[in-house]
Amino acid sequence: MPKTVVLVYSGGLDTSVCIPMMREDYGFDHVVTVTVDVGQPAEDVQVAADKAKALGTEHYTVDAKAEFVEKHIFPAIKANGDYEGYPLSTAIARPIISLKAVEVAKRLGSVAYGHGCTGKGNDQFRIEFIMRALTPEMAIIAPMREKNLTRKEEIEYARQHGVPISQTVDKIWSIDENLWGRSIEGGRLEEPNYMPPEEIYQWTKGIADSPNEPEIVAIGFEEGVPVSLNGQAMDGVSLIQKMNTVAGNHGVGRVDIMEDRMLGLKVRENYECPAAVTLLKAHYALEALVGTAAEIKFKAMVDRQWSEMAYQGLWLDPLKEDLEAFINKIQERVTGTVTMRLFKGNAAVIGRASEFALYSEDMASFDSKTFDQQDSTGMVKIHGLQARMYASLTR
Ligand code: ARG
Repeated sequence: MPKTVVLVYSGGLDTSVCIPMMREDYGFDHVVTVTVDVGQPAEDVQVAADKAKALGTEHYTVDAKAEFVEKHIFPAIKANGDYEGYPLSTAIARPIISLKAVEVAKRLGSVAYGHGCTGKGNDQFRIEFIMRALTPEMAIIAPMREKNLTRKEEIEYARQHGVPISQTVDKIWSIDENLWGRSIEGGRLEEPNYMPPEEIYQWTKGIADSPNEPEIVAIGFEEGVPVSLNGQAMDGVSLIQKMNTVAGNHGVGRVDIMEDRMLGLKVRENYECPAAVTLLKAHYALEALVGTAAEIKFKAMVDRQWSEMAYQGLWLDPLKEDLEAFINKIQERVTGTVTMRLFKGNAAVIGRASEFALYSEDMASFDSKTFDQQDSTGMVKIHGLQARMYASLTR
């Protein structure tokens, strides 16, 4: 029985140098590579397959786009998923990538996993949590973390071992892409005070290049998830891809933040998330129309906790399931349409409609007598009773 390792494989530099290391340094005679398609460019998926072939692994490509949308992106929308201004695009993809690696490993009866995460980031937590939760008996090898290599050293190692590379030492953007967003790291972008050059952006146009006319788009929601654009029903994958193109064309979705990683490191992060930014804003607008004030306030706490757990990759945690039970109950009423105006980097809500709206035009309007204003008099008199007594003490 050959000693088999299943390597979570993106085709990028980190995971590519892991292939010869698995053989030479860790003594595996059989390396299996698994590339999970979560909506990164089709070209990247192909490059991964080609590189795997060149490096002689048994390679699997798993198309997980639909499942990623249904089981990861949709729950994130329902929870208004956001961590410090970041729509969690990389974070929510890691569990599904790991889940697919687990499936392959079980099928092949392999004894170990390998991954290319460094010891500084969050991905090591997200990826390994799933592996340990579902297959605790298997070993996990993280060469990048164990060897503590710099990018320069990796490139050197790759050159010596015939690993094809696209990075060079002086132009090192580290990109992570999926349907929910694109992350750009590395090089001078690590400096908090360095203005990102236009060249890092691929999904969003800059203010100067985006159309000078706004575009209106109507997003239809059913039970908290987007189901149509401008009245046209669409499956989740197509809708998100379309939204990325349409909103990205107007420059919507650029995020530039200082992010607090799990290990406490503050890092400067740049993202492009046109669909995520637009759909999350629309979803929140609809919730604000159908939820009671108490529900909205309480849900903000639930959403925050959900987002925290998603960031940490605690995907199978019971609390996350409990929070989702609450979130899903409210989503029963998050059905309707939100109209957005996309223009020069901004997605603005300009209308919302729902059969479950708790808004009464008749009651709120300046022009109606349905709400008898005199009914308020008693409540206004009692308002702030204790604070008024306190004020009387010091007056
Ligand atoms: N900081 C983000 C996160 O932890 C994304 C980092 C991934 N980016 C990358 N180029 N590997 O979710």
